[in-house]
Amino acid sequence: MEGSRMNYEQIMKVALERGFYFPSCEVYSDAQAGFWEYGPTGLSLKNRFIELWRREMVRRDAMLEIDGSQIMSKSVFEASGHLASFADPVAQCTKCKSIYRIDKMIAEVANIIIPENADLEEFDKIIAEKNILCTKCGGKLGKARKFNMMFEVGIGPEAVPSYLRPETCQSIFVDFPRVFKTMRGKLPVGMAQIGKSFRNEISPRQSLIRMREFYQAEIEVFLNPSTVNEIEGFAEIEDTELNLMVDEKTIQTMTCKKAVESGIVPNKLVAYYLGLLVEFYQKSGIDVSKSRFRKLGAKEKAFYASVAFDFEVETSIGWLELVACNYRSDYDLTAHAKMSGANFEVMDGEAKVLPHVFEISMGIDRSLYTIIEHCIRDEKENERVVLSIKPYLAPVHLGILPLMKKDGLYEQAHLIFNGLRRKYDVFFDVSGSIGKRYRRLDEIGAPLAVTIDYQTLEDETVTIRKRDAMSQERIKISEIASYVEKEIAYP
Ligand code: ATP
Ligand code: GLY
Repeated sequence: MEGSRMNYEQIMKVALERGFYFPSCEVYSDAQAGFWEYGPTGLSLKNRFIELWRREMVRRDAMLEIDGSQIMSKSVFEASGHLASFADPVAQCTKCKSIYRIDKMIAEVANIIIPENADLEEFDKIIAEKNILCTKCGGKLGKARKFNMMFEVGIGPEAVPSYLRPETCQSIFVDFPRVFKTMRGKLPVGMAQIGKSFRNEISPRQSLIRMREFYQAEIEVFLNPSTVNEIEGFAEIEDTELNLMVDEKTIQTMTCKKAVESGIVPNKLVAYYLGLLVEFYQKSGIDVSKSRFRKLGAKEKAFYASVAFDFEVETSIGWLELVACNYRSDYDLTAHAKMSGANFEVMDGEAKVLPHVFEISMGIDRSLYTIIEHCIRDEKENERVVLSIKPYLAPVHLGILPLMKKDGLYEQAHLIFNGLRRKYDVFFDVSGSIGKRYRRLDEIGAPLAVTIDYQTLEDETVTIRKRDAMSQERIKISEIASYVEKEIAYP
């Protein structure tokens, strides 16, 4: 790809100027950090990303998708362990009272990587040894403690305590017996959900990267642990390559088949989904040669995971975790069965089993940021910034640009616009020079632009311009729709 890559700050500017995303409640001074809105361009991109996820993950594997509540009862999180364990380590300045996420602060200030689940005494020890002080006032830090990140809400006038879900998957677990039964499920089966999760992050920052309210696309695969190596469809991905971190410094690229044989990935089922994930991100336009699966150590894993791989991608702000792949075993179903008294066992052939769960927990917002960063280029030589996104993910499919507002060109262009806009995302633009209008479309990744000029009035042809090559050709008005269709088709 031509042009130079852009960094986080440059992308933020494009996002604000071109309607991708912007801070929530921005006109008020009490707007809180960590909340962001998608504008029309960003929302369109998000919708297309979700459609790709449904196509490549959910429908490909005949998964069952649900849409659960965002507020869930206290029992759910007592059972899941979130009330007791969903907490980050913090330390407070004894002087100015600023509160810090202490594992991150130690990493930034002392360049020491300490897992967030480390014992609290370990944080205190490093703070003392390295003399880590408040970065705002230089005051001494108090003892490390845990801060629970769930948002509590009071239901009804009695204010019955409930919680905004910190991960979407809890509704999948609670709903599993009903959905499995009503949809006549057969193990292994994936249940999927797109929705918001809420976390009271201590230091939300970098727009879509660390938010307090964010979108997850989660898949929970329910499986019989005795058949994890009998995976229908494994042959389809066995040659797909994974970049696996085998130690802190080494990434080894190997096929899914080799990853299982070498024991780096525990079984075929896990390798199958890691392979699907890489293929999905490849189709999203992320450069997967800059991705890795990092196997988490005992102190890094979430409390419910027995094996965990984070899917991380290199960006201008470092390696970014986009997806958590957790083998949750029967942790959740056992806990909910115990707490609720309901039966979570199902039949697998003749055998009654309590399924295990393998999870693919994807952050949508971080994925969108990474797609933009990997696809956007500053082409100084062409005096443009261009989002060379996959055409099927493009927020706008094509621009319709009348050369002039007068002489019937506007009216002719509007007729063409009316004929296409119910089927495609079309942007009608009359303001500024044609060059400026092309640049605006390039920045939002529109793969095509149609210009209506004086010749159009004579022979019913238009100029159609391609975003990446900047090539132009003349086609008939009647051919525009099929041209667009071909351009935005999935591979
Ligand atoms: P981090 O270590 O960056 O805080 P995490 O390990 O807490 O992330 P998970 O709990 O594994 O994240 O959540 C699964 C996915 O949800 C992440 O890979 C990420 O893409 C997304 N996610 C988690 N927290 C946030 C957040 N605060 N803002 C945006 N996306 C998030
Ligand atoms: N459901 C896993 C996570 O949110 O991390």
